[in-house]
Amino acid sequence: MKNTKIIAVANQKSSGKTTTCVNLGAALSLKGFKVLLIDFDPQESLSNFFGLYNFEKNIADLMLKHINKQPISIEDYIIRNEVNGIDIIPSNNADMNLFSRVIISKRGQETVLRRLLAKHDTFRSYDYILIDCNASVDVTVDNALSAAEYALIPCWAAPFNFAPLTNTIGQITDIKEELNPDLKIIGILLTFCERTTNCMAACEAVRNRFDDLIFSTTMTRTAKADTSLKEKAAVLSNAKDNKTAIEYRAVADELVSRIGRCE
Ligand SMILES: Nc1ncnc2c1ncn2[C@@H]1O[C@H](COP(=O)(O)OP(=O)(O)OP(=O)(O)O)[C@@H](O)[C@H]1O
Ligand SMILES: [Mg+2]
Repeated sequence: MKNTKIIAVANQKSSGKTTTCVNLGAALSLKGFKVLLIDFDPQESLSNFFGLYNFEKNIADLMLKHINKQPISIEDYIIRNEVNGIDIIPSNNADMNLFSRVIISKRGQETVLRRLLAKHDTFRSYDYILIDCNASVDVTVDNALSAAEYALIPCWAAPFNFAPLTNTIGQITDIKEELNPDLKIIGILLTFCERTTNCMAACEAVRNRFDDLIFSTTMTRTAKADTSLKEKAAVLSNAKDNKTAIEYRAVADELVSRIGRCE
């Protein structure tokens, strides 16, 4: 059995979470790791990126079956994506919405995902499980943070993004105190970086406040990083000038070494 690292990619605001999951997942696979991506967002952006729409066997259905003590075959829910070298459990808008309504009346509402992952050995065959969170601080995100050992926070480097960043960090702090003492922020990744005064001021403010938590690699805003149309992660591009590919490979290296320092 592997020492599976579970990472929740979270921020209350749109900030490149899905792009980060897709590219970090593919980059970690390129490094030889076995990777599972869980789409935890009712928007289904990550699933749609891989061509999976409105999928019947999805993470919310799994969690609902777990709550209702129904038999589950995890393998039926895992989609292999050979192009990107990763496995995926998709999301489904209707089932995620149903989950968030049903869960409110249940005991242990924040820990369903954690209990599901702990119960099935299949999940321990992975080196990395990345959870693509929805843009919120709701009970769904509570579930991702309760299940994870690490939180990675992409942060769009622009003014007005400081409040959602601190809200997300507040939620992580609460979950750590109340439910998941193992939870650690593995890093804040500055995204959509460009050479404007506003952006540089935002980066400086975040650096001044969070210092060592900031990944030394930052993500450049680029026209090429469109995650919504292509089914292949930008990180797989061999073009020497593909900044997104180069930067996400560097983020993957930094992530592995940061986690190494935590162990
Ligand atoms: N470095 C980048 N340069 C330019 N565009 C980018 C970059 N990274 C991501 N994008 C684009 O920005 C949009 C938002 O990114 P993404 O969907 O990854 O954010 P998100 O945090 O997952 O959003 P949400 O909170 O809605 O789930 C997408 O269209 C994506 O293709
Ligand atoms: Mg997203």
